[in-house]
Amino acid sequence: VKTQVCIIGAGPAGLLLSQLLANAGIDTVVLDRRDRAYIEGRIRAGVLERGTVAALEDAGVADRLHREGLPHDGFDLAFDGERHRIDLKALTGKSVMVYGQTEVTRDLFDRRFAEAQRFFFNVDNVTPDDLTSDAPRVHFRHEGRDVTVECDYVAGCDGFHGVSRKAIPDAVLRTYERVYPFGWLGIMVDRPPVSHELIYANHARGFALASMRSKTRSRYYVQCDLTDRVEDWSDDRFWEELSVRLGVETAARLETGPSFEKSIAPLRSFVAEPMRHGALFLAGDAAHIVPPAGAKGLNLAVADVRLLARALTAHYRDGNDSHLDTYSEAALRRVWKVERFSWQLSTLMHQFPENSPFEKRMQRAEFDYLAGSEAASRSIAENYVGLPLE
Ligand code: FAD
Ligand code: DHB
Repeated sequence: VKTQVCIIGAGPAGLLLSQLLANAGIDTVVLDRRDRAYIEGRIRAGVLERGTVAALEDAGVADRLHREGLPHDGFDLAFDGERHRIDLKALTGKSVMVYGQTEVTRDLFDRRFAEAQRFFFNVDNVTPDDLTSDAPRVHFRHEGRDVTVECDYVAGCDGFHGVSRKAIPDAVLRTYERVYPFGWLGIMVDRPPVSHELIYANHARGFALASMRSKTRSRYYVQCDLTDRVEDWSDDRFWEELSVRLGVETAARLETGPSFEKSIAPLRSFVAEPMRHGALFLAGDAAHIVPPAGAKGLNLAVADVRLLARALTAHYRDGNDSHLDTYSEAALRRVWKVERFSWQLSTLMHQFPENSPFEKRMQRAEFDYLAGSEAASRSIAENYVGLPLE
């Protein structure tokens, strides 16, 4: 099999890259160890930055997003029941869009299938090879056969547990990591959201988030122990805990019901440097993870892909490699700023078992400062709506 760019991973990063490259007349092959139904069913992110929406518009896959997405002009931070609204629109002139990752993925798949994208699903033993030669290849197993893709470039869009990052030699790769001592338990329920805007709450019993997917579908999270299992959390226990953490006033408006999805995600900050090795370029979760409080994981993946698509387009269309040569540097500059924001918001909004009374007071003081300072609130807002691409 021959192509120009072999894309490993059909998550949002890989799919969007294949679409942007197809639009520029560049041929790709996309591999995934799962199939389309499984990938579309993975419930993850829900908030899109303006820049992410723009990228989906550029790709030509934003029609349904504009019909069904919910524009949000602000969100609430709550601390022990006290609320402070971050007025995104007033503070930055911008808003964000609530539209699920499942929907983004579906829109991209629809378009890639309509344009006859070459996919290999349910692949095994994916092995990038000869990355520093002028004939890079990717080997894998598909439907009982060994397949080799010969290509100019390999895009590693295979998420945190993928093989691409591991193809970079230890002597070259540097990693930075922080693992948080708790997880997020998330549920999905077909009930109207408790509030028309998101609420991020820090309560003495732990963090809670009220989010949504539509006017009739809600997404809620509570901070949980790393040792908790989904089976430990009945719907009743979840609603009780969420109500306490959101506070009586909000809980009075909460519409509970049977959850149809329930999962636990660990929280991590992680960065791998560099994001390029020879013909291999990493994008999205393959290169970095943020804790979810800033709603940045998907947005950061899309920002990488915009930079990478631009660099590959300049290479093939104009013979200009300068963007390819600076990709890692340019992407990482932005990645670290988004890591900082996600870490800051996570540090402010969770209960850390190791926190001393002093550190708890620091959290409280930071919240009080935010609530009384337009400058501090604007700083949160400008990060939440999304930093510029460069
Ligand atoms: P992924 O979506 O992980 O896609 C990678 C793809 O590569 C997958 O389809 C996978 O099957 C495939 N793959 C993996 N290994 C291989 C291999 N060896 N060979 C071939 N294919 C392979 N972000 C938020 O902003 N808000 C959230 O609430 C939120 N919740 C999350 C919950 C969970 C459980 C997880 C894991 C992430 C969450 N995120 C959230 C982060 C966000 O979903 C990711 O940042 C986003 O999916 C990144 O997209 P990606 O395409 O880089 O990676
Ligand atoms: C959602 C997830 C987040 O991590 C976040 O910060 C906001 C919303 C969500 O799944 O709706």
